[in-house]
Amino acid sequence: MKILCLNGPNLNRLGKREPEIYGSETLADVEERLRQLARDNGADLEFDQSNHEGALVDRIQEAAEDGTDGIIFNPAAYTHTSVALRDAVADAGLPTIEVHISNIHKREAFRHHSYLAPVCTGQIAGMGTYGYDLAMLALLRMGKGE
Ligand code: DQA
Repeated sequence: MKILCLNGPNLNRLGKREPEIYGSETLADVEERLRQLARDNGADLEFDQSNHEGALVDRIQEAAEDGTDGIIFNPAAYTHTSVALRDAVADAGLPTIEVHISNIHKREAFRHHSYLAPVCTGQIAGMGTYGYDLAMLALLRMGKGE
């Protein structure tokens, strides 16, 4: 099973950025843990981050064509603004789990709405970076047809 974990703007700053909201782990720490989880489950992981909306669209389009079986996607601020990313996820037609480190539903009102949620398989929010692990476990389970 091939899984893409894709991260949107400012997540390259994880660990330094507003640690009281997002914690002290870096994106490299998350990547290392997910790689281990993938290995333990015989899955291949591709891990990417971009601060650019169009680059994220390109990466999702690539995933639609390269045999990727599922996407773990933290669109970050684009969650709340991007019709282009929603269209890309809808077009790819792959199981996609939307992940947010923080609980967007108990933050500012503008974070409550996700353009992506209606085209995603599910959403995980508020579990810290463990949300990425949960998303991978969900995709692995779906891949086995459970
Ligand atoms: C985030 C929540 C978004 O509202 C915010 O813009 C982010 C990170 C999260 O992981 O909690 O950049 O997606």
